[in-house]
Amino acid sequence: MLNIALPKGRLGDQAHELLSCAGYTGGNLADMGRRLVIENEAAGVRYFLVEPSDVAIYVEHGAADIGIVGKDILEEDRPDVYELLDLKLGKCRMCAAAKKGFYDEARAVLRVATKFTGIAERYYASLGREVDIIKLNGSIELAPLLGLSDVIVDIVESGKTLRDNDLEVIAEIMPISARLIANKVVYQFKSAEISALRDSLEEMTND
Ligand code: PRP
Repeated sequence: MLNIALPKGRLGDQAHELLSCAGYTGGNLADMGRRLVIENEAAGVRYFLVEPSDVAIYVEHGAADIGIVGKDILEEDRPDVYELLDLKLGKCRMCAAAKKGFYDEARAVLRVATKFTGIAERYYASLGREVDIIKLNGSIELAPLLGLSDVIVDIVESGKTLRDNDLEVIAEIMPISARLIANKVVYQFKSAEISALRDSLEEMTND
């Protein structure tokens, strides 16, 4: 039996659909009510529905064998897991953005609001730019509008949130998509099952 951590929400639904097409369905997620575990003995899978930012924690600690997680979370938290496959789902970009017409006066300390403090710190360190990182938990786009920060580092998908708030991308930091990850120890003794699942998913994502 493979224990799989799925992120709750749209990405989890899409990932489960892909896994179902590859022969690893857990059943009908829509019928789960408030249950957080769903099992399909015939397909050899047990799914756990967890917070997107907790998927890698379950996998790293071996509570789940494998999981589906956004590259943004892997880059931010850097968990000790194997990244096996790019599922090409949930595609978006990690960007720096600011109010339209913002001019970065290189001498001042740049104030950066973000949920992704690790990514932001590493990005600006790579540029040799001195920054003051302000950690927020959501609605990041509000920070430059209220003068809390000069710029933000956040996920941009359609770009609508930026546009609707008169902000614009000033730099693309990295492309983001969902990844299949595995626990490093479990991968050794369930390698045949995990590789079979990985290869089926790879075939589906190449179509
Ligand atoms: C994410 C992200 C942006 C928005 C980008 O927010 O933080 O705010 O989506 O999408 P768009 O480019 O298609 O407009 P999310 O909805 O996850 O909520 P959050 O504000 O709590 O981060």
